[in-house]
Amino acid sequence: MDERLSRPKGFTVWFTGLPSSGKSTLAFLLNLRLSEMGFPVELLDGDEVRQRLTKGLGFSKEDRDENIRRIAYVAKLLTRVGAVAIVSAISPYRAIREEARAEIGNFVEVYVSCALEECIRRDVKGLYRKALNGEIQNFTGISDPYEPPLAPEVLLETDRETPEESLAKILATLNALGYLPEEPERLPPEEETRILARLKSLGYLD
Ligand code: ADX
Repeated sequence: MDERLSRPKGFTVWFTGLPSSGKSTLAFLLNLRLSEMGFPVELLDGDEVRQRLTKGLGFSKEDRDENIRRIAYVAKLLTRVGAVAIVSAISPYRAIREEARAEIGNFVEVYVSCALEECIRRDVKGLYRKALNGEIQNFTGISDPYEPPLAPEVLLETDRETPEESLAKILATLNALGYLPEEPERLPPEEETRILARLKSLGYLD
C-alpha cells in the first residue's frame, strides 16, 4: 500500500510569543488555509483552552507550565492520529516548549516576534495598560519573563510584515518540511533562500 495513505502525517504548529504579538491572528489564518486544503485541523488557543481544559490555572510559572503540558498532551493525541494541531499560547518558558517538542515529535515552532513597544501599542485586550498601572501582576513582557526560542523552525516579525507575508512563510516552511501535499504560492527568492537556510541550520535538509 502507498505509504502516504497508510500513515497519515500529523503535525503540530506551535505559536509562541508575547501578548498581542499576533499569535491568535496567524493561528486563525493558518487554520483557515489548512482547512481549505482539506487537512483535519484543531486550534488550541490559550484564551479558550483556559476556559475549559486548563480552567482554574493561573499565571505562576508552575501553572503556566501545567497549562502548556496539558495543551501539549492534546496536541500529541491529535498529531498521532494524523491531524494538525495548531497551538497558540504565550508559552513563555523555553524548557517546557522543548518538552512539548520532544513529546509531540512532528513539531513546528513558530516564534511570533514583535517589539514590546509595538505589542503595548496594539494592546489588543487592554491588559498591558492594566499591567503597567499595576492592576495585573505577573504580566508577560512587563512583570513576568518571556524566553524567546533559540532555534524556531519559523521566525515571524509581525511588526514589519503583513499577516499574509507571515502566513506565506509558515506555509513555505511546512512545504519544505514535507507536510504539504501541494506547493503553496511561491515567495520572493531571497525569502525562500532564508527559509531553506534556517531549516538547514536546524539539521532538517541535506
Ligand atoms: S501561558 O503563559 O500559559 O502560555 P496563555 O497563552 O495560556 O498563557 O494565556 C494568556 C492569556 O491570558 C493572555 O492572552 C491574556 O488574555 C490572559 N492573561 C491574564 N493574565 C495574564 C498574565 N499575567 N500574563 C499573561 N497573560 C495573561
